[in-house]
Amino acid sequence: MGTNTKSYLNSINQVELISIEKISDPEGRGNLSVVEKNTLPFEVKRVYYLYDVPSDASRGGHAHIELEQCLIAVSGSFDVVLTDGKKKKIVHLNKPNRGLIIPCGIWRELENFSSGSVCLALVSEVYDESDYIRDYEVFKSFKSR
Ligand code: TYD
Repeated sequence: MGTNTKSYLNSINQVELISIEKISDPEGRGNLSVVEKNTLPFEVKRVYYLYDVPSDASRGGHAHIELEQCLIAVSGSFDVVLTDGKKKKIVHLNKPNRGLIIPCGIWRELENFSSGSVCLALVSEVYDESDYIRDYEVFKSFKSR
């Protein structure tokens, strides 16, 4: 686990969209994007991806106490609905060379997945259920302490 014990202070303003390097093939063989050591503001300890998500399904619905992550729509598109308990922001991800950095202490829901879309998550911690806040009321009291 990291050492960020101030995640209850994080606001929606710390959510950030980053550009990921895109290398277009000069002979028209398509694009290549690369995430390497300095692309993200944290070290990646785990990678997971969401796919085959029905268009009416909602994923996420939680916040993390310490974990930070970067979400990338490597295929298709989806919406990320974010809140710090006060302000809300909706980010539409639809480009494989765009990453959404979500700091700890931010509630997120993922919805409106297009057919065939894939959400790649690059995350700063190994899986640990005790880092999750899955109840919005608990999140609200966490943020107002
Ligand atoms: P969950 O966090 O509920 O998915 P989402 O928030 O994206 O809708 O995870 C679904 C299930 O997968 C849950 O039982 C926990 C498990 N899981 C792992 O075992 N390892 C992981 O790295 C992740 C992200 C989830």
